[in-house]
Amino acid sequence: MTEKLRPLISARRIKKRVAELAEQITADHDGAPLTLVIVLKGATVFAADLMRQIGIPFVIDFVRASSYGKTTRSSGSVVLSEDRQLDIAGHHVIVVEDIVDTGLTMAALLETLRRLGPASLDVCTLLRKQVTGAASIDIRYQGFAIPDEFVVGYGMDYAERHRNLAGISKLILDK
Ligand code: IMP
Ligand code: MG
Repeated sequence: MTEKLRPLISARRIKKRVAELAEQITADHDGAPLTLVIVLKGATVFAADLMRQIGIPFVIDFVRASSYGKTTRSSGSVVLSEDRQLDIAGHHVIVVEDIVDTGLTMAALLETLRRLGPASLDVCTLLRKQVTGAASIDIRYQGFAIPDEFVVGYGMDYAERHRNLAGISKLILDK
């Protein structure tokens, strides 16, 4: 099996879009206590760039979303990264994610976080895959819509590889 990478979104386009998202978040949350909940591991690169361009105070926390079975499909089972509860009661929370595909992971995560009593709960995802039959999720901040293909780079992996690519590429597996 050979792997090919086909460039989809350049580092330059990502940089421009991330700046726009940060500007939008800054404008929307002036004066409100803000928490960014970053989904490990894929969203860390995106979050690092995004947070350095947000112009208001915020705190960060992390959750890990674990899935079972095949590596490219998620079961939507979500596990918080630490056994203590996230302290987000009364906070305006933005979940920072790399990609929403079927939406199962995000739906489960939002349900878990909602129980912790945030003042508001929004989603910021760099990518949204156009998948038929995906869970309907209200996404307030979205970087790019992409076709239903597997992508890597800018934090996103295939079997833990390619996270270090500056841009985003389609991964093509040839048998
Ligand atoms: P969902 O539950 O199907 O929406 O899957 C979301 C999670 O699966 C994301 O947080 C990613 O970790 C992973 N994922 C989905 N599609 C891709 C992809 O194309 N490349 C890398 N990871 C992906
Ligand atoms: Mg992820």
